[in-house]
Amino acid sequence: MIDLHAHILPGLDDGPELEAESLAMARTAVMDGITILVATPHCLDGRYHNFRDSVQLACNAFNSLLAEEGINLQVLPGAEIRFAPELVEQMDRGRLMTLNDTGRYFLLELPDPFISHVVSHIVFQMAGRGLVPIICHPERNKMIQRDPEQLRAILAAGALSQITGGSLTGQFGRRARETGIRLVKAGMVHFMGSDAHSHKSRPPRLADAFKALGDLVGSGAAEVVRTVMPRAVLAGEPICDRHRDIRCFSRDHRVNEGKVTGLRRLFSHGSLKL
Ligand SMILES: [Fe+2]
Repeated sequence: MIDLHAHILPGLDDGPELEAESLAMARTAVMDGITILVATPHCLDGRYHNFRDSVQLACNAFNSLLAEEGINLQVLPGAEIRFAPELVEQMDRGRLMTLNDTGRYFLLELPDPFISHVVSHIVFQMAGRGLVPIICHPERNKMIQRDPEQLRAILAAGALSQITGGSLTGQFGRRARETGIRLVKAGMVHFMGSDAHSHKSRPPRLADAFKALGDLVGSGAAEVVRTVMPRAVLAGEPICDRHRDIRCFSRDHRVNEGKVTGLRRLFSHGSLKL
């Protein structure tokens, strides 16, 4: 599995402080079936400013340590970038780390509250530069919890979205879980990451969450989120329109229940049979 969101590099943010903790996280990830993990330290959040050069250096050092310890995990560079006034300028200066440094996709964390048309405007500006923001953990944002449609305008401007695996398994409480399920069913989720911060309380695990996603949308759709989407991100390749709504891949009619029932009702009055 690929985990596109984890705070694993030691001493950079509110993730692990020491190398030993980072290594414990790496071992947990491998045990869970994660083979590639993108290290995404916080940036521009008012507290941590992990810019591109320092993330790359820390990532190289940690990969050397993993090799020394014989841990079979590949760690790639990334960042979790807060929506901030200096976002566009810093991106234009090349100081912000995109996922796997391909210059295409980056994790964007929304503040709480946010103004959706301002965010949409910036997303649109980014799209003009060939950049695709991936809104991370929208299901944990209070504004989106109150009104999930707030996310739709931002996605329409060119963003994608990533929920946290632990939200689906209930780790972040009832509201995050319910909102996560709602966003998945509305076709507004494209990725799932662990957002790991430690090896015990917030570990880099995704297997259970993907099982929960499979139960929700069917194994075909969950597989798109698990493999097709993150591979495109790591390669910096565009994502086709078909993959932007995982419900297209769902054989499980529970997701499309409303649609199917509606069609059945329509056709039951005519000669066509479903
Ligand atoms: Fe995070």
